[in-house]
Amino acid sequence: HRALSARKGIALLGFMGSGKSTLAGQLAVMGDLPYFETDAVLEQEFSMSIKEYFQKFGEESFRREESRVLKKMSGREMILSPGGGIVLKEENRNFLKNYFFCVYLKVSPETVLQRLSGTKNLRPLLQDKMNLTDITEMMERRSAFYEETADYILEGDGKSISECLTELQSVL
Ligand code: S3P
Repeated sequence: HRALSARKGIALLGFMGSGKSTLAGQLAVMGDLPYFETDAVLEQEFSMSIKEYFQKFGEESFRREESRVLKKMSGREMILSPGGGIVLKEENRNFLKNYFFCVYLKVSPETVLQRLSGTKNLRPLLQDKMNLTDITEMMERRSAFYEETADYILEGDGKSISECLTELQSVL
């Protein structure tokens, strides 16, 4: 097992709509730890929403900025909730493995579709893909990356937030 001492943070990984932010926020409150979202940092820095950023500068530029922000997140205790696409780059996966205990919050495409259908926070990458076929395909392209990076896989389907928290407490 990789030395836990070097890894001060806990990162919640998972697909858009998996519930990373909600769970990470609760974990932070419980552990009285600072909480960061790479998306929120970028929105603040650029004074625009992620959706606007994608429209203006495109995905490639977003991925560059996202990696830059991620690399500032180390060396202190924290809970981190990065965007769902953080695992696409190998350098990000390596960084996460080195500095964080990584939890993959795994949910089904059905859960994602259901959760995202009820939110106003439209994800740019899913704008024309709010259907099970497209979500399933995208998730399948990413799942190996999530699994490879994870220290622990938390099956989120059918579990309440407090059940997820209890389960996490027992492994952290
Ligand atoms: C993305 C996920 C989003 C956001 C951006 C791209 C992705 O974050 O970073 O829209 O590629 O999966 P959430 O996972 O919080 O939705």
